[in-house]
Amino acid sequence: MKLPGDESDAAQVERFIRVDHAGEYGAKRIYQGQLAVLGRGPKGDILRHMQAQEQVHLDTFSALIAERRVRPTALMPLWHVAGYALGAVTAAMGERAAMACTVAVEEAINEHYRAQSAVLGEDEAALRETIETFRAEELEHRDIGLAHEAELAPGYKVLSALIKAGCKVAIAVTERI
Ligand SMILES: [Fe+2]
Ligand SMILES: [Fe+2]
Repeated sequence: MKLPGDESDAAQVERFIRVDHAGEYGAKRIYQGQLAVLGRGPKGDILRHMQAQEQVHLDTFSALIAERRVRPTALMPLWHVAGYALGAVTAAMGERAAMACTVAVEEAINEHYRAQSAVLGEDEAALRETIETFRAEELEHRDIGLAHEAELAPGYKVLSALIKAGCKVAIAVTERI
């Protein structure tokens, strides 16, 4: 039920596109940061595979931002730096920590996309399909992280909880600014 003061459906969809655009940009930057450290190592190819998919996700939301004239978040410069730093720092902690970062981020994004997809109606069926397609790829990334021993990273639980909390804050802030 809609209450007075609730945002319109159009405003909600704009908010979705704004935050998803920023999130995919942040994801790309995380993998770039990881590649700067691990790109020549044995995990280089799998990181490049995930980064390439994030680039497609980002390009899709960049096109939606342009088509629908949605204002991008003012925080893009922050996600530029923070995403890269998160990737580079976790990669410097080791391959398993880098994979733990991927698992945590992708789980947070999976939840985020699942919630968006659940409220999009038939008038936004195409956007919902896009989000579901990307969500499946984010889950693939999570599974890659798990297959590459993310859970064996030192301090896995703490690291994972910190990164997930950070993602939630990033999402909440980006939806507003
Ligand atoms: Fe993505
Ligand atoms: Fe991803």
